Amino acid sequence: MSDKSQQDHRSVGVAVLGHGTVGSEVLRLIGEYSEDLTHRIGGTLDIKGVAVSDLEKHKDSPAAHLMTTDAMSLIERDDVDIVVEVIGGIDYPRQLVLAALNAGKSVITANKALVAAHSAELDDAADRAGVDLYYEAAVAAAIPVIGPLRRSLAGDRVVAVKGIVNGTTNFILDAMDSTGASYDDMLAEATRLGYAEADPTADVEGHDAASKAAILASLAFHTRVTADDVYCEGISKITADDINAAKKAGQTIKLLAICERNGDKVSARVHPTLIPREHPLASVSQSFNAIFVEAEAAGRLMFYGNGAGGAPTASAVLGDLVGAARNKVHGGRAPGASTYANLEIADFGEVETRYHVDMDVDDQLGVLARIADQFSGAGISLRTVRQEEKGDNARLIVVTHHAPERDLAGVVEKLKAMDEVKSVNSVIRLESE
Ligand code: HSE
Repeated sequence: MSDKSQQDHRSVGVAVLGHGTVGSEVLRLIGEYSEDLTHRIGGTLDIKGVAVSDLEKHKDSPAAHLMTTDAMSLIERDDVDIVVEVIGGIDYPRQLVLAALNAGKSVITANKALVAAHSAELDDAADRAGVDLYYEAAVAAAIPVIGPLRRSLAGDRVVAVKGIVNGTTNFILDAMDSTGASYDDMLAEATRLGYAEADPTADVEGHDAASKAAILASLAFHTRVTADDVYCEGISKITADDINAAKKAGQTIKLLAICERNGDKVSARVHPTLIPREHPLASVSQSFNAIFVEAEAAGRLMFYGNGAGGAPTASAVLGDLVGAARNKVHGGRAPGASTYANLEIADFGEVETRYHVDMDVDDQLGVLARIADQFSGAGISLRTVRQEEKGDNARLIVVTHHAPERDLAGVVEKLKAMDEVKSVNSVIRLESE
């Protein structure tokens, strides 16, 4: 047998932890594409076992004969070279992934919460063992964005990463915008269609997007950014009224993840954001994701596609699996995440953006001037002011120029304390091109 054909028959043992929407698709695709994958790897992927929590639940699966509830023993088997973690959660997968790395196995994970919370510990373990740790599927599923940040842009200086990184919330906001329906009705629709989880809290409160923002910011700025460093505000308080007011102003509302480098400081935040309807992110509909990366030499790059779902997520897992398996067969190792720059994380109060403040006020002489005084007293310049009749009161919508979060928050507190201000209905940040 030639060296080449010996290589073709090298077996790469794979353990899959989890058999949910993503795990079952990973196994299906490995089966369906096995011949192509063998050529691409120079060896065969052999599934040595699939760890699940309940054998009975999966007894009709084509992979039932490979299943075990003892994930740790599966990981420790000598014939397992690579571990694919698609369980979800943090504490239990963290133990399993660390055990795998410490045992010299490369790891592929789709688990954004785990990577965003524990990247330092995981990277160190992978470095010590000299193995690969890949997580393309953790951010925006099928959309290749981790690879470009890690490799293609490794020679450039990234200054911003901005985009829509959660499909469930984009579906809800898009449906509210196109039908005029309420948040609760569209959340129910997203749940019915299977976009939102039975417990959609992580999606709608922005935690899923915040984990993704932490991962993107870390890679983009070569600085360790964890989920705790990301300011996070979800979409559950967005009303049909907010969406209508946005429409009237030629805008729409999206949940954006915004990671920026400003001099030697970086920031990452997730919040509902008003954008003009002609902004490229405004046309991202349904459960699609889109991410802009802006780098000094490359300019602006846009990544768009399926950011959720079993098959799209499995596609990204398989890409990583082929890369790690090639390294097992041919030697070598992908570079880990570099955090050498160690830039300071800006305090959220310093971050500057523009604001849309919607309030109900007394329709009396001098009220507008007194409200404007609050903004100017804090050094915040107003860009537009719009007033509409609202029963006995007036609805006042103020749009500011750029100002620090801390200053705007101070003004909002003062507005709430004014007798003439009946309610501050919403404060929504704005992004323009
Ligand atoms: N629940 C996520 C979303 C997909 O709706 O985008 C997995 O991150």
